[in-house]
Amino acid sequence: MPEKRTYAPKEHSPLASIEDWEDFVVVRYPEEGKPANAEKDKDAYRNYDHPARDSVREFYRLNHTYQTYDFVREKEAEFLKFDRKEMMPWEAVEYLNTLVDDSDPDIDLSQLDHLLQTAEAIRADGHPDWFVLTGLIHDLGKVLCLFGECQWAVVGDTFPVGCRFSSKIVYSEFFAHNPDSQVEEFQTPCGIYEEGCGLDNVHMSWGHDPYLYHIMKDHLPESALYMIRYHSFYAAHREGEYQHLMNDHDRDMFKWVQAFNAYDLYSKSPSPPNLEVLRPYYEDLIAKYLPDTLRF
Ligand SMILES: [Fe+2]
Ligand SMILES: [Fe+2]
Repeated sequence: MPEKRTYAPKEHSPLASIEDWEDFVVVRYPEEGKPANAEKDKDAYRNYDHPARDSVREFYRLNHTYQTYDFVREKEAEFLKFDRKEMMPWEAVEYLNTLVDDSDPDIDLSQLDHLLQTAEAIRADGHPDWFVLTGLIHDLGKVLCLFGECQWAVVGDTFPVGCRFSSKIVYSEFFAHNPDSQVEEFQTPCGIYEEGCGLDNVHMSWGHDPYLYHIMKDHLPESALYMIRYHSFYAAHREGEYQHLMNDHDRDMFKWVQAFNAYDLYSKSPSPPNLEVLRPYYEDLIAKYLPDTLRF
């Protein structure tokens, strides 16, 4: 299958590294109940001095301006055809790892390092193997960057479109530039949705989370799918917003999203995991749950 490649304009991808967004989220949501790690925090704050901090702000400006209901529907129609690339699961992990940002690769951990650190932290706590596998694959949807998508359409907090934007979303003031803020039927808490309709009926802003959910939905337990689909929905799982769109099942499943979030955010360590040692375990785990090839 020929690989389509388009390149997003540089000004639509202001972050030196897409990890800069995640580093920002860690500072924004420090680990609950744990004493602040002075060295780590110092590092994070150093990194969030200008200009990285400005680039994160610009990233959110673009994200909140362009993630409209129509944009989301267009991207769903475009990417949920899965006609970009067919890959074996481990091949997809390696493909994502070819994502090289402008930041210094000697300092930053690779995409694969983050996936393995997340998975290993979950495994060390004795969680079920499907939870460990979720750690390994949760960011595979970031291959959207390699398909030429703008950073703001791959990473960033996700949120419902077609209804009022929560003021608790980071940099929510930028929603004033979003054309959906002028659409009357989107200005109520429920917008086009019914109260308690359940998140499965709600269109979320487009990015790596909903994309990977659709790729994985036939292969993993539902709790794993919630983790994948909503791991960047910080307004809900960290701020408790959008309860009025959820049903009881969503609320129940969000316990898994919260459990996962701790590993995603707080498992980063500067020493890269030993791939050679770990690879056989993860190849077996992939073979247990996932098909031979995945369509992206
Ligand atoms: Fe992610
Ligand atoms: Fe992640």
